[in-house]
Amino acid sequence: MITFKDVEIRYGDFVAVPKLNFTVQEGEFFTLLGPSGCGKTTTLRALAGFLKPSHGRVEVDGVDITNVPIDERQIGMVFQSYALFPTMTAFDNIAFGLKVEKRPAAYIKERVHELAKMVDLNEEQLEKNVSNMSGGQQQRVAIARALAKKPKILVMDEPLSNLDAKLRKSLRKDIKNFQQKFGITTVYVTHDQEEALMLSDRIAVFNKGKIEQIGHSDEIYNQSATEFVCNFIGEANQLTVKDLERLKLDIPEQDNYDSFYIRPEKVSFSRECSDERQLEGKIVHKEFYGMYGYYSIDIQGTQLLSFQRESKAGHHQIGEVVFVDVKSDNVLKYQSKK
Ligand SMILES: Nc1ncnc2c1ncn2[C@@H]1O[C@H](COP(=O)(O)OP(=O)(O)OP(=O)(O)O)[C@@H](O)[C@H]1O
Ligand SMILES: [Mg+2]
Repeated sequence: MITFKDVEIRYGDFVAVPKLNFTVQEGEFFTLLGPSGCGKTTTLRALAGFLKPSHGRVEVDGVDITNVPIDERQIGMVFQSYALFPTMTAFDNIAFGLKVEKRPAAYIKERVHELAKMVDLNEEQLEKNVSNMSGGQQQRVAIARALAKKPKILVMDEPLSNLDAKLRKSLRKDIKNFQQKFGITTVYVTHDQEEALMLSDRIAVFNKGKIEQIGHSDEIYNQSATEFVCNFIGEANQLTVKDLERLKLDIPEQDNYDSFYIRPEKVSFSRECSDERQLEGKIVHKEFYGMYGYYSIDIQGTQLLSFQRESKAGHHQIGEVVFVDVKSDNVLKYQSKK
């Protein structure tokens, strides 16, 4: 278990992280998510020991590690840039830490092969020089190397961001698989919402050095606690009070809020009117992505973005009249001017 207690981290006079409190459970996949510059890497550095907090403390299993040196923290690390030794083979890269520890050759061989299997690298790849490997393979080597010394905690800072979209998706599935299989407590950093939602047991959404919300993926997405989280985690239609009226949405205690949103997948529509509560609208824009599409629908001057699976929706055309369903329960509401 990892605990950050009132942690403040500074670079000189600049306070990058003012006061951080969170706990990561044993075996959990915990993600720090947020835009560039919000303090994710800084937080990870404080956990790994590269930075010392100016205030507060970091605990692992109830033991204060704030002053424990990096190499005694038993934390495996994976970075965006693979940080491998380019002139060495994959095998030697993975074995590096074990050799430094002067482990017996037989043990090293067995452990490297075990790790290679885990991250899906074959014998032939192990003998390759890492500079001759693809980005995805290099990142697998980096992950295996991070796990070689059987760390208690694995930290990963944007490990997939140098890879192309397809590889990113396949490697993230692998990361999820081995993390579940080995149950290693993992702190993962990304600015990619989709990656965070897919991988994490829980997510901490960062904004300017502070955590806005900690929760399971579905909580973060469907019950975004703040307007920032709502906007950062996915797409949302922002609604004015006038829009609420037009859409006949009745928000309980509406006066207590001044910001309203509805997510595109909560806006459904059909060709036929099947319910008098449906609102007549017209498709004004369409984006087709193969498996799914986004439609902009104009309802008496209010434009709503609607997400549809193409197979379900059929191909709707711009200019088509449709009947739209929106529910008050699905409106996310915030007090922005607190
Ligand atoms: N070595 C440094 N010296 C001074 N300021 C720094 C240093 N490293 C980071 N910062 C500042 O601290 C803040 C947090 O930076 P950090 O690198 O933690 O952000 P991040 O969330 O990891 O961003 P990114 O997604 O771009 O990697 C930023 O304002 C950044 O400019
Ligand atoms: Mg960073």
